[in-house]
Amino acid sequence: MTLGCTKKESGTADTAAKTSAKKELTVGTDAAYAPFEIENADKSISGFDIEIIQAIAAKQGLTLNIVNTPWEGLFSQLESGDRDILISAITINDERKKTMDFSEPYFDAVQLIAVPNSSKVSKFDDLKKLKVGVQIGTTGDEVVTRLLGRASSNIKRFEGTPLALQELINGGVDAVVADNGVINNFFANNPKDFKVLSDTTFSKEQYGIAVKKGNTDLLKKINDGLAAIKADGTYDSIFKKYFGE
Ligand code: ARG
Repeated sequence: MTLGCTKKESGTADTAAKTSAKKELTVGTDAAYAPFEIENADKSISGFDIEIIQAIAAKQGLTLNIVNTPWEGLFSQLESGDRDILISAITINDERKKTMDFSEPYFDAVQLIAVPNSSKVSKFDDLKKLKVGVQIGTTGDEVVTRLLGRASSNIKRFEGTPLALQELINGGVDAVVADNGVINNFFANNPKDFKVLSDTTFSKEQYGIAVKKGNTDLLKKINDGLAAIKADGTYDSIFKKYFGE
C-alpha cells in the first residue's frame, strides 16, 4: 500500500519535472525590423517585441529561446513545431488567423510611405505608376499589390524591410511602404533626405503574438502575462523606452 502510494507520488513528480523542463519555449522573430526586433553585432536580439515577450515570460515563469527566423517561412515554423511562439510585429488578420492563433493585440500600427525629399508624391494613389519597395508577404506588400496590381513589375519585393529601405537610399525604388514604427525609425536615422507620408486609406492594424493553432494553454499564458504587464506598468515603460510618450 505504502509502496504503491510512494510510486504514484514520484510518478506525478516526474511528470511535473518533464512539464517544467519543456517550458523552454522557442520564439521566432525576423530580427531585421527596428525598433521591434534587431539582431546586434554579437548576434543577440533586442527590441520592443523582445522586451515585451521577455516581460510576459518573466510574469509566467517561462524560459525563452529567441531565434532569428527569416520572415518568409516564419509562419510555417509554428505549424512544424520548430517555433512555439512568434513575435515579429505580425499584424493580426483573418487570412493569418486561419493558420495560427493570435494573442490579444499588443500594438497599434498603420502603413506609412517613405519617399525622397524631392518626391512629388503626396498620397498613396500617386504611387500607381512608380516603383515601390515592400517586404514580401507583409501587409505593406498587400496594400501596394492592391494599388498596383499583382503582376505589376513596379512592385519590388524584398525578403527584408531593410533591403527595401536600402533600395530607396540607392534610388532603385521611388517609395517604400511599411509599418509606421519602422518607417519612422528609418526617417529618424535619415531625416535630411527623406520624408514620411501617411494616407487616410490605410486601415488600422494591430500586432499579435502567434502560437500554433489550438495551443490554447500557451495562448492563455501569453494573454494573462500580457494583461499583467499592462496592469503593472511594465508595458508602458517598455513602450516609452522605444516610442516616447
Ligand atoms: N506588420 C507587418 C505584417 O504583419 C510587417 C511585419 C514584418 N515583421 C518583421 N519582423 N519583418 O505584415
